[in-house]
Amino acid sequence: MFNLRRLLQALGVAVIGGNGASHVTLDNNPTLANVAADPGPGGTAPVRPFRLDQVRLGGGLLQEKRDRIKGFLRAYDERRFLVLFNNQAGRPNPSGVSPPGGWEDGGLLSGHWTGHFMTALSQAYAEQGETAFKSKLDWMVAELAACQEAYTARKKPTHPGYLGALPEDTVLRLGPPRFAVYGANANTNTWAAWYTQHKIMRGLLDAYYNTNSSQALQVVVKMAEWAHLALTVGDKNQPGYKGNLTRADLNYMWDTYIAGEFGGANEVFPEIYALTSDDRHLQTATAFDNRESLFGAAVADRDILVVTPQNKPGRRRAERLHANTHVPQFLGYLRVYEQSGAREYFTAAKNFFGWVVPHREFASGGTGGNYPGANDNPELFQNRDNIANAIAQNGAETCTTYNTLKLGRNLFLHEHNATYMDHYERGLFNMITGSRADTTSTADPQLTYFQPLSPGSNRDYGNTGTCCGGTGMESHTKYQETVYLRSADGSALWVNLYVPSTLNWTEKRFSIKQETAFPRGDTANFAVTGQGPLDIKLRVPGWVRNGFLVTVNGEAQSTKDVQPSTYLSLSRTWKTGDVIQVRMPFSIRTERALDRPDTQAIMWGPVLLQTIGKPSGGSYWQLSLYRYLKRDGDYQRAAIKQTGKTSAGDPLFTTTTSSTSGSLNVRPYYISDNQAVSSYFLRVEPAVVFGTIDTGVPNRKRNDGLPKYDVPVSGITSPGTDGPTFLDLIWDQAPFATHAAFVQVVTSTADAFVAAKVYTTKERDTIVAKAGEAERELAP
Ligand SMILES: *[C@@H]1O[C@H](CO)[C@@H](O)[C@H](O)[C@H]1NC(C)=O
Ligand SMILES: *[C@@H]1O[C@H](CO)[C@@H](O)[C@H](O)[C@H]1NC(C)=O
Ligand SMILES: *[C@@H]1O[C@H](CO)[C@@H](O)[C@H](O)[C@H]1NC(C)=O
Ligand SMILES: *[C@@H]1O[C@H](CO)[C@@H](O)[C@H](O)[C@H]1NC(C)=O
Ligand SMILES: [Zn+2]
Repeated sequence: MFNLRRLLQALGVAVIGGNGASHVTLDNNPTLANVAADPGPGGTAPVRPFRLDQVRLGGGLLQEKRDRIKGFLRAYDERRFLVLFNNQAGRPNPSGVSPPGGWEDGGLLSGHWTGHFMTALSQAYAEQGETAFKSKLDWMVAELAACQEAYTARKKPTHPGYLGALPEDTVLRLGPPRFAVYGANANTNTWAAWYTQHKIMRGLLDAYYNTNSSQALQVVVKMAEWAHLALTVGDKNQPGYKGNLTRADLNYMWDTYIAGEFGGANEVFPEIYALTSDDRHLQTATAFDNRESLFGAAVADRDILVVTPQNKPGRRRAERLHANTHVPQFLGYLRVYEQSGAREYFTAAKNFFGWVVPHREFASGGTGGNYPGANDNPELFQNRDNIANAIAQNGAETCTTYNTLKLGRNLFLHEHNATYMDHYERGLFNMITGSRADTTSTADPQLTYFQPLSPGSNRDYGNTGTCCGGTGMESHTKYQETVYLRSADGSALWVNLYVPSTLNWTEKRFSIKQETAFPRGDTANFAVTGQGPLDIKLRVPGWVRNGFLVTVNGEAQSTKDVQPSTYLSLSRTWKTGDVIQVRMPFSIRTERALDRPDTQAIMWGPVLLQTIGKPSGGSYWQLSLYRYLKRDGDYQRAAIKQTGKTSAGDPLFTTTTSSTSGSLNVRPYYISDNQAVSSYFLRVEPAVVFGTIDTGVPNRKRNDGLPKYDVPVSGITSPGTDGPTFLDLIWDQAPFATHAAFVQVVTSTADAFVAAKVYTTKERDTIVAKAGEAERELAP
C-alpha cells in the first residue's frame, strides 16, 4: 500500500487565521523533530496508529461481529445511496432504485449515511483486500464526483464545490441572516447540516486513506473549499446579507440544538490542511470552535454539561447538552491541536473527556441516560456523577460510545495514560460488540440505537439510516485500529488490546502474531517475526486482580510489582521465533454506581455480565453475596459461579439464590439477542455476616458525603449521606492472606465506625468477636 507520509510536507509552524488569529508553534516531543507529520489522528503525536491494512484480525468474537456487518455491506445495493445526490445534481437514476430510508430518505439529514457507508466499505477493504468493497466504493466516489461537478455547473450554487443529497441552501441557511432552526419544513428548517457534510467528507477521506482513491481526495478538497467560503463569506446572495460571518455568528450557529450539530466536522479540515498545505482549511476547522458556551469552560475544566436554567451559558444553549452532538467536536479540537500546535485545543479535549469518564459512564462504557423529572430524552448528558438515577429505559446511545472511544484513544496518542485504554476496552467489549445482533440477516444492519440499562429490558436491532446505524457499520469494520500503536520514532510497540490479530509493521520489517480467545479466555501468545531492538509495551488492564504473568521464550518475567492500569515494557533485541505469553486471570468484581453504592454491576474481567430475565414490577434483581465469600474474596468461587459455556465459547454463570427469586443466570453483555437482561442489580446486605455467622449487627453505611447533583432531580434526593457499607469496606481489601489479617481489618474498620458514631462500642465488640470465631467459616 501507499504511504501517506511521503505525500506530506514536514509540518513546522502553522498559522491560524480568522478571528482570534494567533501564531502557534508545535510543542511536540523534541525527539520527534525529524519525524514527518501524518494527516490522520495523532498526526504529530509521539504515539501513532498503524494503517488499517497493517493489522488483520484472527478468528474470535470481533471477527464474528465484523463478518456479520461485512455481509450487510456486500449485500447492500450501493446505487441506493446515489439517488438523492443525483436528484440534486439533475442526473438520472435507474428505475426501481430507492433511497435507503431511515433518515437517509430525502429528509433534512440525508447524505450522512452515504458517508458512513463509504467509510465502512473502505475499512472492510483495508483489512483483507476484498475487492468487492473497493469496487462499490470506487463506483460511489466516481458518481459523487460527477454529482459535484453537475451541481456546480447546473445549479449555479452560491459557492462552487458543494456536494450533498440536499440543496446547498439547507447548509447555508443555518448561518446569517436566517439562522435556521430544526424543524420539518424542507424549505426553511435545517437539521445538523454540517454533521452531514462531515460524514460525506469523512467517507471520502477514508476512501483516500484506505483505498488510495485520488478521486476521493479531489472531491473532498473541493468540498473543503466550498466549506471555507460557506463559513467565511456565507450566504451572500440572501436579502439582508451583512458581510462575512463573525465569531458571534458562528457561536450562535453551533449552540442551536439540533440544527447546529456539526458532528466532528472540525476533524476533517486539519487533515485536508495537512494533505494540501492550504492554510484556509485550518482556518475552517477553527470556525467550528464552540466558543460561547463550551470551549472556554472546557479549557478551564469547568463542567457545564448540565446547568440550571438560570446558569445557562450562551444565547441559545440548552440546559443539558446532547451527548453525541458534543463528543465529536472534541475529536476535532484534538485534530486542530495536532496540526496547529495550539495547546488549548488539547486541554479542552482532555478536560471534556474527564467530565464524561468516569463521571457519566455506565458499566457498559456507555453514557447518556435519563433521570426522573428530566425531560424525556436519554440522548442528553446526565448530571455529573448521576449514574444510578440515570439508568433509564433507552439507556446509552451507541454512537456516543463510538465517539468517546475515539476521543480517549486519540488522547492516548498524546498522553499514554492506560486509563484511556481501560475505557476503550470496556466500551469495545460491551457497548460496541453488543451493538450488533448475532444474526446473519442482511435486510438491515442489525445494529442498536439505544442500549437499555434498566432492569429486564431488551435490545432492538435495525437502524438503517440512523446515526447509530452509520457509526455501527464503521465500528465493526475497524476492530483492528487500536490493538497496536507505534511510537512515532519507531522505538516502541504498544499492545493495547488482547485481540487475535497479526500486525505487519512493514516499515520495520517486524511482524507479530497474537493468538488469544480474549475475552472468552484470559491468555494471549505473541509470536515475533523480524529482528532488532524494540520496546514492546503490554497493557496491564485496570481490572486485573489476580496477577499479570508474562513469559518470554518460556522464561518468567518479573511482574510482581506491576500495577493494574499501566503498561509493562519488554525492552530487548528481538529475533524471529521469540514468543511472549501473557496470562491475566479474570475475576468476578462488582462495580458500584458513583451515586448509589448499592446499585451495582457484575464484571468478569473487561466484560459486563447481565442477568437474564425480567424482575417483577420493573424493579432491580436483589442479591446478597457477602455471606458466600471466603477469605480470598473470590466472588466466582463463592457466589457467582461459572456453570457452562455457549457453543461459541461464551462463559455462562449462575448466581447463588437471590432474595427476589431463585438463582439467576448471568452472561456477557456482548451476546446480542432479544432476551430481557439487566445490567445493574441491587445489593442487599442487611446484616454484618461472616459466612453463615450472623453477628446480629446491622450492616450500616458510612456517610461519604457524596456530591449533590448539579441540577436537582425532582423526586430524588441527591446521594448526600449515602456511602459504602461496613462490609463493603472490609471486602474491598480482600484477599486476606491470613485470618489474623482479616480480623485486623475488621477491627480497625469497626473502630473507625465507632469514632464516626455509626456503631456503638458494644456493636463493635460483637462484630470483632464474631470475626474472630469465623476462621473455619472463611477458610478458602
Ligand atoms: C495510489 O494512487 C496513485 C495515484 O492514482 C498511484 O500513482 C499509485 O500507484 C497508487 N498506489 C498504490 C499502492 O496503489
Ligand atoms: C471574507 O471572506 C473571504 C473568503 O475567506 C476573504 O477573502 C475576505 O477577505 C473576507 N472579507 C473580510 C472583510 O474579512
Ligand atoms: C491517568 O488518568 C487518571 C484518570 O484521569 C488519573 O487519575 C491518573 O492520575 C492518570 N495517570 C497518570 C500517570 O497521569
Ligand atoms: C508484511 O508485508 C510485506 C509487504 O506487503 C510482505 O512482503 C511480508 O511478507 C509481510 N509479512 C508478514 C509476516 O505477513
Ligand atoms: Zn446515535
